[in-house]
Amino acid sequence: MNLENYLKKKRGIIEKALNGYLPSVKTLPISLHQAMRYSVFAGGKRLRPILAMASFELVGGKGNAILPVASALELIHTYSLIHDDLPCMDDDDLRRGKPTLHKVFGDGMAVLAGDALHALAFELLSETKNPKLISEIAFEIGTYGMVGGQAADLQAEGKKVTISQVNFIHSHKTGSLMKASVRAGAILGGAGGEKLKVLTSYGEKFGLAFQIIDDILDATGKEEKLGKRTRKDQSRAKATYPKVLGVEKSKKIATRFLEEAKAELKIFSDDGEILKELADYMIERMD
Ligand code: IPE
Ligand code: IPE
Ligand code: MG
Ligand code: MG
Ligand code: MG
Repeated sequence: MNLENYLKKKRGIIEKALNGYLPSVKTLPISLHQAMRYSVFAGGKRLRPILAMASFELVGGKGNAILPVASALELIHTYSLIHDDLPCMDDDDLRRGKPTLHKVFGDGMAVLAGDALHALAFELLSETKNPKLISEIAFEIGTYGMVGGQAADLQAEGKKVTISQVNFIHSHKTGSLMKASVRAGAILGGAGGEKLKVLTSYGEKFGLAFQIIDDILDATGKEEKLGKRTRKDQSRAKATYPKVLGVEKSKKIATRFLEEAKAELKIFSDDGEILKELADYMIERMD
């Protein structure tokens, strides 16, 4: 199957599952549930659930056991975007091609919709009856992972930073959840040992490269295509790859990480095609 069809098919599956898990807009408090749905269904590439599903299938996982976890990963990601866009953080007014949640529902409701998505994610994760996996995801999105990275990102605003500080920010704020997504799929699919090890390394490299590319696209990309404002990082003096190394060098490094991520998959031979094509798709996104 070519990648485009694969992505379309998986997005359909994940969106149907999310629709079933999210509270209906007829349930009280109505505006909270409208707000949660507004952000979740605003569009979005659904990359984290797709990484989880692809890695689950790659190691031989079958059936729908991955769906609550894949959905939880997307809810966690969406909550992080809602909070990331708040005036007290990146202060953005466009997300997934629509006005940011706080612009439409107000700051308070945006904080709460994020909180509720975060809680719902853990309710879904508990369906796995796998406390070790739930604990790992909590670790990767908390103070030692995504939230820690977001804190370091805020603290670095306006400061001179080294590339190793930017690597810390990027591998935590974005890499941790992506790595956790690939690992969650592999673990639920029954992988351990060498397979889990190489998929972990793929997830780490993919995640870091993904944030470097996000930085590059902020500096070079088009608002209409990305569905969010561009040239924001420079105006907020964010710690980014282009700021420290320039766009061309950043592109080379992102490409290198993605080539290394692909190389990790050689033990799977042809079965690793989807994850390899996903890495190539990220390289193409830079142009
Ligand atoms: C945006 O993530 C935030 C970052 C981690 C860079 P995505 O680019 O995956 O956003 P959506 O889900 O497609 O909107
Ligand atoms: C966001 O990074 C990372 C998380 C939400 C955890 P950015 O701040 O670079 O993401 P965008 O550019 O607003 O999507
Ligand atoms: Mg941010
Ligand atoms: Mg932001
Ligand atoms: Mg960005």
